[in-house]
Amino acid sequence: MLFRRKRQVPESVGFQIGRRFDNRPLVLPWPNMPHALVSGLTGSGKSVTCHNIIGQLAAFPDVAIVGVDLKRTDMTLWAPRLTRLATSPGEADDLLDELRRLIDARTQTLSEFGALRWNPSFGPWMVIVIDEYAELSAVDTSGLSGQPSKQLEAHFRAARTTRQIRLANVSSIARLGRAVGFTLIVATQYPTVEVLDQQVRTQLDIRLMHRVASEEQVAVCLGSGRASTISAKSIPVSQPGGLWVVGTPDSPEPVRGRADFVSADAIRERAASTAHLQWPAETVFSAEPVVEEVF
Ligand SMILES: Nc1ncnc2c1ncn2[C@@H]1O[C@H](COP(=O)(O)OP(=O)(O)OP(=O)(O)O)[C@@H](O)[C@H]1O
Ligand SMILES: [Mg+2]
Repeated sequence: MLFRRKRQVPESVGFQIGRRFDNRPLVLPWPNMPHALVSGLTGSGKSVTCHNIIGQLAAFPDVAIVGVDLKRTDMTLWAPRLTRLATSPGEADDLLDELRRLIDARTQTLSEFGALRWNPSFGPWMVIVIDEYAELSAVDTSGLSGQPSKQLEAHFRAARTTRQIRLANVSSIARLGRAVGFTLIVATQYPTVEVLDQQVRTQLDIRLMHRVASEEQVAVCLGSGRASTISAKSIPVSQPGGLWVVGTPDSPEPVRGRADFVSADAIRERAASTAHLQWPAETVFSAEPVVEEVF
């Protein structure tokens, strides 16, 4: 698939990631996109949908994109357009810390300018894509075999603290980020309460649900009120990328559709052609607001 240009999306303000089954474009709102949850079983198309979203947003000059990909799928292909990419727990911790600090800096910028809402003249919109959120909860167990139990205990104690800080940072980003131009996109196979904290989940207003296994999972992905109207079998295995979307201006109620396929080659091409729009980390994370003078 070739990424569409923005002007080919006339029906709605936003960007297109596929087609609805009524043949209208499947559009996500932009700018000011709410946070989104991308869910579904393994192989259902979550990562491709994330690539799709990144690919569309990559074309906007006022968008900085950061990624967390602890499963090391192919988000690295986007590296030329990404401000930062974390592929290890340590890198994710650093990145989430920096994003948390950026929220404070941006909140201060808003108050200094007496502004109520973020505006790209203060700095770029921030898009944070976390592919397989459950990996953020995992505790690193590498190199532990044969360690004495005292050291193991200390390791797990430290790891639990690190994990708590990491998840608290995501929670802050989810709660406070929208006001300062952040959009969080969380992909997970396990959108359960154990994996995805209620505080984060309730902030993910847009839901993109790929194929799931049960009505319980429909309830978790789309909200309990919808589980009775949408069958878990409504997306066949033979249709990866098939999804239900809810929470966009076009779809206040769930709408069935399918995301476009994005190949690795299409990603490479898009990353190369938009690399000049990459926001360097030094610019994005510097406390100084980037205000362009307009005469
Ligand atoms: N929109 C789509 N159209 C056609 N085929 C698709 C689409 N999305 C995904 N696929 C196919 O399904 C495969 C799995 O997709 P993807 O890697 O996105 O799944 P996933 O949900 O991220 O799985 P996992 O949980 O294992 O990471 C892709 O390699 C591709 O072949
Ligand atoms: Mg995936």
